This record gives sequence, structure tokens and C-alpha cells, in this order.
Amino acid sequence: MRVYLIGAGVIARTHADAAAKLGEPVELRVADPNATVLAGFSAAYPDALAFSSAEDMLASEPAADDDVVLVATPPAIHAGPAVAALRSGRHVLCEKPLAMSVEEAEEMLAAAQAAGRLFGSCSTRFRALPHTDAVKGVRASGVLGDVYHLSFVTKWPRSRAGIEYQPASRWFLDSRLSGGGVVMDWGPYDMSTLFDLLEPSAVEVVDAWIAQPRTGADPTDVVFDTETHAGATLRFTTADGVVRVDYERANGTHGEEVARAEFEGTRGAVHWTPFDSQQPVFLRTDRDGEIVEEEVPPPPRSDLTIFDRPLVSFVDAVRGRPSPATLGAAAVDEFRCLRAIYETARTGVAVRIEVRR
Ligand SMILES: NC(=O)c1ccc[n+]([C@@H]2O[C@H](COP(=O)([O-])OP(=O)(O)OC[C@H]3O[C@@H](n4cnc5c(N)ncnc54)[C@H](O)[C@@H]3O)[C@@H](O)[C@H]2O)c1
Repeated sequence: MRVYLIGAGVIARTHADAAAKLGEPVELRVADPNATVLAGFSAAYPDALAFSSAEDMLASEPAADDDVVLVATPPAIHAGPAVAALRSGRHVLCEKPLAMSVEEAEEMLAAAQAAGRLFGSCSTRFRALPHTDAVKGVRASGVLGDVYHLSFVTKWPRSRAGIEYQPASRWFLDSRLSGGGVVMDWGPYDMSTLFDLLEPSAVEVVDAWIAQPRTGADPTDVVFDTETHAGATLRFTTADGVVRVDYERANGTHGEEVARAEFEGTRGAVHWTPFDSQQPVFLRTDRDGEIVEEEVPPPPRSDLTIFDRPLVSFVDAVRGRPSPATLGAAAVDEFRCLRAIYETARTGVAVRIEVRR
């Protein structure tokens, strides 16, 4: 099959590595207008056919039924190339965040539907991890009783994309290029994991806030208008009733480092470290008035890295194999929940999203 990369930057290289793990021969093509970046990519992946423009790359040959285009540009440059690639008759897997706005995301979905092609989001990267499956198994077993609360918190004091992490990519800091800060950068993984855990039919953003704590390392020579800390009170309507979610995410805070998720029910609780599947999952129940804590063994881990997972899952979907890929309206609905966090933070008014099936 052919995999076309639009953008040859940091994440494109991880997709090129993933393309080698698809279990079938892959012809790689790549487009990037930055000649230095493109030359670096070509040196690392000499078999990839290189183009200085995505338009030229897409027009260079007729589309095959299983062609996959991976949009790996900054978020402001997701919708245009994605729509063009879909219209060229190719399946499109888009990096997160899906787009800059709900309107753009819906336009991408409409283009996919009109073309009859698959459209997916790389927010799937951390979906269906073994320890998440272990937590889902605990909840499904009924041992927690009625689950009424989920706390989902990941806070890193100094891990701001564009500053401490990948400082060469300053676009992360400018909302006109990135769409926003940590809600656009890590929120897609959080929301995808929450959807994986809760399979909601509706999500309500009841309250939300965003903040940008200041540090001595803040750049003054570029636009830096993105939040590095955010939180929301969410209500997920699930098959088993409403679960209230206290959500928090930071890549820049003066607070302490925290990485913890916990389901609480009337008969037990389960806690785990959401994005680190090496960490154990613990179940806490009551026996004769005493707290009993036990470790829950996760299912076996796969050999794939988190960077391999989006492309491998998407190609599984293209090939009609079972896949945890986030596709079509499901991908857009997760993104709508993220944009709703900004809207509620700005207006103070709750936003409800009906999740399409
Ligand atoms: N860096 C990471 O760890 C990481 C992880 C997961 C997801 N992502 C996502 O991947 C996307 C890209 O991030 P990155 O870190 O690779 O950025 P990057 O800055 O390393 O690379 C982006 C590349 O896109 C190129 N580009 C810009 N306009 C283009 C166009 N019209 N056509 C083709 N190429 C174009 C740029 O020249 C640049 O080389 C973002 O959406 C980001 O959120 C990044």
C-alpha cells in the first residue's frame, strides 16, 4: 500500500517508522515545503519519494483504493490538506488536534462522507491500552457497584510543547497556529481515553477553566497565548447512568506533578496512571469494614509503541480488520467536547454534545 505523509517534521518520522510495521509492503511518499526538513527526512528514509508540496504529491499518480494520507502538519494546516486528500480519493488519518474549530472538523467529515473514504484521528494513540482495558474489565464486572465519579488528572509542572518540549516548534505557543494549548495538545488523548472508558451517548461540559501560569522561561520574542493548565467538570451519559468526571490537565503549573485516574463506585474504587501502562492498576473494596487493595493484572502488552498505534490501527480499519481507531463522526465528536471546554471556560455556560453513533 502507499502511505503519503503531509509534513516531514518530528511526528512524521514516527509514522514513517510505523509504516514499516504494517505487515505488508509500503511505498512511502512525503511532502514538506521546508527544504531543510525534507532533506533531513529523505536522508533518514531514502526510499520515500519526496515532494515540496502536498498538492504535487497528491496529483503525482491516480489514487488507489487503499491509499492512506497522513496529515502531520501544525493544526492550522490540517483541514485544507485533509479535505484535498479526501477529494483526491484517499483515506485520511489526521494528527491531533483534528482541526482548529468544530466547523473545520465537520467540513473534513463531510468531505470523507462525500468521497466514501475513511477519516481518522491520531487521538487514538493511547486508546485501548492494556491497563485501560483492565480498568474497563473491573467496571464491567460490577465489583464497583454504581459508579458515580471519575477523577482524571494529569499535571506536569514543566512540559510545555514549544518551550521545555520540542522548543524548535514555536507554533505550539500561538493559538492561531495550534488552535490552543494543552487542551489541544493533550486533551485529544484525554478525551479519547474518556470515550474509550465510558462510551458516552452524550457529554456535558458543566464548568471549565483555562490558565497560563507564568515562568521565567516564558518566551517573549514569539506569540505565547496558549493555556498550559485547564480543568473541567464533565457529565458523561453512559449506558449505566451519568458519570461525573473531574478532569484536569497541565503541562505548565506551579502545582505538584500528578498522574492519576480513579473510578469510584458504591462498592469499590479502581485507580491507575492513565498514560503509563507500565504502572499497576489497583482495585480497592471493603471487606468486613476494612479497606482491601489488590492489583489488577492487565492483558498482555503488544510490541507496538504508542507512536505506531495510530497508523497501524487506521490501516487495520482500511483493511476491514478489528481496530480501536477513532473514525468519522466519533473523531469529530471527541473534538467537539474539547472545543466545548474552551467555550464553557469563556462563557461560563454549560455545553451539551450528543454523541453520534
Ligand atoms: N511532536 C510530537 O511529539 C507530536 C506528538 C503527537 C502529535 N503531534 C502532532 O503532529 C502535528 C505536527 O507536529 P510536529 O511536532 O511534527 O511539528 P513539526 O513542527 O516538527 O513539523 C511540522 C512540519 O509541517 C510542515 N508543513 C507546514 N505546512 C505544510 C504544508 N502545507 N504541507 C506540508 N508540510 C507542511 C512544516 O514545514 C514542518 O516541517 C501536530 O498536529 C502535532 O500536534 C506531535
